[in-house]
Amino acid sequence: MKRGPSSSQRIGILTGGGDCPGLNPAIRGCVLRALDHGWECVGILEGWKGLIEGHSTPLGIAEVDDLMGRGGTILRTSRTNPYKKEGAVARCLATIKRLRLGALVAMGGEDTLGVAARLFKDYRLKVVGVPKTMDNDLSATDYTFGFDSAVTIAVEAAERLKDTGRSHRRIMILEVMGRHAGWVALYTALASGADGVLIPEEPVSLSSLVADLRAVYRRRQTALLIISEGVSLPDKKAAAGREGGGQEALDEFGHMLLKERGTGEQIADYLEQETGIETRVAVIGHIQRGGPPTVFDRILAVRTGVKAIDFIAEGQFGQMVAVQGTKLVGVPLAKATGQLKLVSQDWLALIRALQK
Ligand code: F6P
Repeated sequence: MKRGPSSSQRIGILTGGGDCPGLNPAIRGCVLRALDHGWECVGILEGWKGLIEGHSTPLGIAEVDDLMGRGGTILRTSRTNPYKKEGAVARCLATIKRLRLGALVAMGGEDTLGVAARLFKDYRLKVVGVPKTMDNDLSATDYTFGFDSAVTIAVEAAERLKDTGRSHRRIMILEVMGRHAGWVALYTALASGADGVLIPEEPVSLSSLVADLRAVYRRRQTALLIISEGVSLPDKKAAAGREGGGQEALDEFGHMLLKERGTGEQIADYLEQETGIETRVAVIGHIQRGGPPTVFDRILAVRTGVKAIDFIAEGQFGQMVAVQGTKLVGVPLAKATGQLKLVSQDWLALIRALQK
């Protein structure tokens, strides 16, 4: 059997990309399991940035004692891509050597784990991936922690919007996160019994949206629409102001920074104009990413953290801990990060069946 680090070695842990509830329990799982092997853990601060710049912190039992219910990440995070900075990969490797790390646990989504996959491929780095993202869009795993917590918050927001929408006889729109995948919007719409949902995976037909919401409004004098921030609007009238406005800013992984876009506002204006019905929009934004993890996310996160250390003990490097059914299994990092997991047709059929 392939061997993991010896008892004298140390395990580095980093969290990269957007934070989400569950990262702290996952760190706790790693640290406590590492103790079973007599291994010491070291926290790398702010994701790959910490490895480039050599910023670390001791991670012992005292640091992880009270983490199960704490949101965010005690190791802080960044959206840093060492492959986009001159000499940064070499500096990462030098930090690993200087800190005498026998193995590394990288917790992240497609971007952070994509870097881990490349470091494994290029340098056979002894790395294991822990999947996290509130977007739930990572391939090869059924769930990522952070998603359940984000949707739980969004559903609560949706239900509050329903109350005020009913009182004022308005159409209410809730815009949730999700740049490329509509899982958060889809689950929020299903769980709150919303009247419509727009996600990036499906082309938007504004004319059918208007017709559908008019029909709902005739029956109930209110309607709730959930939209994903990454939805593209095909209609020129509604898209005015979004196109031809110059280059969108990109992050180091090439994703558009959506902070200026205001898709919900544009759809609200369009709906109000077309239907004559008062329409309001609420953007939940980063509120979905903060706060205590749900029980589901706590358990998933702590299990994944423990499993990551088990993988290291077994010498299973270049793997990500994936959820398949109720089991945690290893999948190659390259496979998990090759492409995003998008909302499939069967989910779209389900939501259509429930919207009348
Ligand atoms: O981490 C993914 C995500 O939550 C996306 O859904 C969202 O578009 C993005 O992060 C927001 O990123 P930032 O926190 O950098 O504004």
